[in-house]
Amino acid sequence: MSRRIKIFDTTLRDGEQSPGVNLNIKEKLIIAKKLEGLKVDVIEAGFPMASKGDFESVLKISQEIKESTIAALCRAVKKDIDLAYESIKNSNSGRIHTFIATSPIHMKYKLNMSEDQVIENAIEAVKYSKKFCNDVEFSAEDAYRSNIKFLIKIFEEVIKAGATVINIPDTVGYAIPKFYGDFIKEIISNTKGIENVDVSVHCHNDLGMATANSIEGILSGASQIECAINGLGERAGNTALEEVVMAIETRKKDLNIYTAVNTKGIWGISKAISSITGIQVQPNKAIVGENAFVHESGIHQDGVLKEKSTYEIVTPESIGKINNNNLVLGKHSGRHAFDNYLRNNGITLSAEELEEAFLKFKKMTDKKKNISYKEIEAIVNSNTTDLKETYKLISYQVYSGNKMICTTTVEIEKNNKILIESAVGDGPVSSAFKAIERTIGKKVRLKDYSIKSITDGDDSLGEVIVKIEENNKIFVGSSLSGDVMEASINAFINAINKMIDSLN
Ligand code: KIV
Ligand code: ZN
Repeated sequence: MSRRIKIFDTTLRDGEQSPGVNLNIKEKLIIAKKLEGLKVDVIEAGFPMASKGDFESVLKISQEIKESTIAALCRAVKKDIDLAYESIKNSNSGRIHTFIATSPIHMKYKLNMSEDQVIENAIEAVKYSKKFCNDVEFSAEDAYRSNIKFLIKIFEEVIKAGATVINIPDTVGYAIPKFYGDFIKEIISNTKGIENVDVSVHCHNDLGMATANSIEGILSGASQIECAINGLGERAGNTALEEVVMAIETRKKDLNIYTAVNTKGIWGISKAISSITGIQVQPNKAIVGENAFVHESGIHQDGVLKEKSTYEIVTPESIGKINNNNLVLGKHSGRHAFDNYLRNNGITLSAEELEEAFLKFKKMTDKKKNISYKEIEAIVNSNTTDLKETYKLISYQVYSGNKMICTTTVEIEKNNKILIESAVGDGPVSSAFKAIERTIGKKVRLKDYSIKSITDGDDSLGEVIVKIEENNKIFVGSSLSGDVMEASINAFINAINKMIDSLN
C-alpha cells in the first residue's frame, strides 16, 4: 500500500529566518492562507518567544486557519512553551514544537550542558508541553552531527514522555543522501516506541543536498518532510517544498508514496512569496524557475512539439503554470470576465482577493490596452496586503536627460492633505526617492532596488522591488506598472508604509 507523507511547511518560521526577510502579520496571514489552500499538513507559523510580532502572527494564524495543523516553535524552556501554547490554543489543530541541541559542538559551546542535562531538559519540556497539547513535536537540533547512541536514548525518553513527532534535523546541511538515509534507518530500527510516532526530516541546503537528503530520509522510513516554499531558510535555505512534493508526485509509483498537496497551487504561491519577500528565485531553479519549462535548443523544441514527454517530466500545468500569452483581457473586460478568466486558468481567489486583483487590473488598463496572462498572473500574485497607506502617490513629474540635472516633483497624500516636494538627483529614480524623503521628513536607507519586465515586448508591465532598512529590519516594497517611474515611486512608498505600519 502506498504511504502518505506529511508535508510540514516552515516558510513562516525557518523561511522567515532567511537573511533580509521580515514579514508583517498581514503578509504572514496571506501566506498561511495560501499554504492552507495548498493543503500542507502542518504550517509552522513562527517562534512566539522570538518577538511580540511573532507571537501575534502565530495567534492570528491559529485563529484563521482551519484545515492545516498550526505549529509553534519553542526552546525546551517552560516560559517558551507557555507562550507557544498561548499562541496556538485557539487553533482547530495545534502543535507545540520544542527543541534542544544534541550535538557535542552545540552542547559544549552553545548550551554549556552535559548529555544528562540535555536529556533531562528534553523530557521536562515534552512532559510540560503535554499538559497543554496532545500534539508535541520534539526536535534534536543538529541531530545529524550528534552521537547516534545518545540520540536514540533521548528519542526513547521523549517518546515515553509523550512526543508524537520526532524530528531529526540536518541543521547545518552536512549530510550526504546515502549517509543521512543510513542514519535515519539506524534510529528507526533501534529506538523503542518509534513505531508509534511520526519521524520527521528537516534538511538544510548548505551542500545543495536538502531535497535529496529529505527523499532519502523518507525512503528510509521517515513520514514527514519539513520544507519551505522556494527553499527559503537560514543560510542556503531549507528543503524546497516544490521540489520534494514534485519529486514524490513524479515518481510516486516507483517510490510508493504520495502527499496530499494540491500541486496546481505551487506556481502561484512561489510567485506570491517572491513578491512578498523580495527574494526572486533563480531562472534555472527546479520546478519554479522561469526557465524550468523552457526548451531552448532546436532539437529539444522539435522533440517537445512532436511529443511533450520527450523532454518534459513535469508538466507546467501540473504546478499551475499556464503558458498562454495569446489570451488577453482588455479595458472593456468586466469583473465577471476577469473572474472567469482566472478560473479557466486554474486560479481561484476569495471574494476579497478577487476584488483587489480586479481593481489593480482595471488601473493597469487605463494605460495599457491589452493585458496578457503572464501580466494578470503577476497582478494576482503581487504583494497585496490590506496595509494602511499612510502615504499615497497622487502624481509625479520628472525632468530628466543625460546632460541636465534630474529633478522630480511628487504630489503625495497623507491624512487627506496634499504634500508637494521636489528634489534633484543623479537620475530620475534617485531624484524621486529624494523628493519622497523630503515629503516624509526622513532619510531612508535604501538597501536594494530591482526592476524586471513581466513579459517580453516593449509595452510589458515592469515590476519594481525596493528594500529599505530601519532598526536592522528590512522592509520590502513592490509595485507593478507599465510606467517604470511610477512603479519605482510606488514601490518605495510601499516599503515606507510597511516600515511605518510596523511601528504602530
Ligand atoms: O534546523 C534546525 O535544526 C531547526 C530546528 C529548530 C528544528 O530549524
Ligand atoms: Zn532549520
